Amino acid sequence: MRISFADSRPADSHCLAIAVAPGTLTGSGLSCLPEAAQSLARAAAKGHRFDGEAGAIAEFYGETDASQRRLLLVGVGNKNDYERAGAALAARLLTSGEKILVIDLTAIGAPDKAEAAVAMAFGALLRSWRHDAYRSKLDAKQRVSLEQIILVGGSARASDLWVDREAVAEGVMFTRTLITEPANVLYPESFVERCRHLEDLGVTIDVLDGDAMAALGMGALLGVAQGSARPPRLLIMRWDGTSAKGPLVALVGKGVTFDTGGISLKPPAGMEDMKWDMGGAGAVAGTMKALAMRKAKANVIGVCGLVENMPDGNAQRPGDIVTSMSGQTIEVINTDAEGRLVLCDALSWVQKTHSPKTIIDLATLTGAMIVSLGYEYGGMFANDDELAAQLSAAGEAVGDKLWRMPMGEAYDKLIDSPIADMKNVGPREGGSISAAQFLRRFIDDGVRWAHLDIAGMVWASKPGATWDKGATGYGVRLLDKFIADNIEIDEA
Ligand code: BES
Ligand code: ZN
Ligand code: ZN
Repeated sequence: MRISFADSRPADSHCLAIAVAPGTLTGSGLSCLPEAAQSLARAAAKGHRFDGEAGAIAEFYGETDASQRRLLLVGVGNKNDYERAGAALAARLLTSGEKILVIDLTAIGAPDKAEAAVAMAFGALLRSWRHDAYRSKLDAKQRVSLEQIILVGGSARASDLWVDREAVAEGVMFTRTLITEPANVLYPESFVERCRHLEDLGVTIDVLDGDAMAALGMGALLGVAQGSARPPRLLIMRWDGTSAKGPLVALVGKGVTFDTGGISLKPPAGMEDMKWDMGGAGAVAGTMKALAMRKAKANVIGVCGLVENMPDGNAQRPGDIVTSMSGQTIEVINTDAEGRLVLCDALSWVQKTHSPKTIIDLATLTGAMIVSLGYEYGGMFANDDELAAQLSAAGEAVGDKLWRMPMGEAYDKLIDSPIADMKNVGPREGGSISAAQFLRRFIDDGVRWAHLDIAGMVWASKPGATWDKGATGYGVRLLDKFIADNIEIDEA
């Protein structure tokens, strides 16, 4: 999708959209249209019961600039939700046959037209993302027609603002692609290769293979990987955006490229969903891309624990005891609780080698998280109130919402094991919390840490504000905003 910003409407804009706030249809809201088109617009609005609700659309045909136009009114709602409005237009027009969409913002009441234009473009670009690579039989009507969006109003500043916003959209779309790829295409080694292009953006990439991880004693991660023909990888991406001695932030992602459950095999129904059990790692990779593309003034290390959880003759068994990199031993009660086994060694590795002050891990860790919060909020567990508040605020601001969950000693006890330092599962009740307590046992004193259980957020069964069914890209905008607001150093 080509996005551009202009001061005036191109002469040949055949498909024209106008953003409308509630209650402005009879006032100045339509002043960018000629009189005749304005009265048609009001009739169309009435016919569609449209009054500028966020994401609502009233479509009609009329004459502007002396020729026939496909015209659309799109609502921004009472909260100036330009992102949602842009997304709604993209959803409506993506396969409509139109190639170019012109969005006229000159008549809107928003105090900052450039910001409104950029938000609209951002929503439209995100909603335009598709993964059609495997659909060889799309008929003409299913094919994407829309190629270009031109936003009119606030152009000079909008083009500047767009550079950073587009970077974030690219990060989100990269994450969605990783999440959407099936597990025969995306496995630990190919995940790494998909991230290689980040080196061109200035990201330093290091990769540990199974031997290197064995030498470091990462027995928990390797125990998960041992049932798979696909060798594991620890992918390390580093973005050094500031020479100033800013605090290093570590992002750690669960990258189980397929989770069969292992010997504690999952039931067949819905197992295909477990291709997106690498959603945490996907969000970390997408965030690194966004940070690098917008040259964020922050030092961030992204670590992805990449494994495939399979049952074979070499797979680990329930009851096996593994020794993690931290030296702590783990009784593996259930081989399907593998995410925490992968994460604990990734967490130990990043603390031992880089001593970050702040760590945020992301994981599709527990089905119990979905039972708790459904598909509206990711679950957040943190050992630091300030970090939790910063993450909540960032999530609220961008729409990747988080809800803080409790932790404490009573929950911690639930994973004590009679034979090892801990077991990898507690009781079913509070399953997301005992999983978080497990991870906490691997966090060094003095480190600010948050664990985001995003099991319900990575994949959507119905379209949302800026996504279609499927991969949402949850986490990228959240982490990018958290870093922009709390970590980036003003070097000016
Ligand atoms: N990847 C799953 C969690 C999951 C389930 C994510 C559904 C998204 C949708 C995880 O590895 C898992 O299987 N967890 C178990 C833990 C249990 C054995 C303690 C679960 O949630 O059932
Ligand atoms: Zn599992
Ligand atoms: Zn899993």
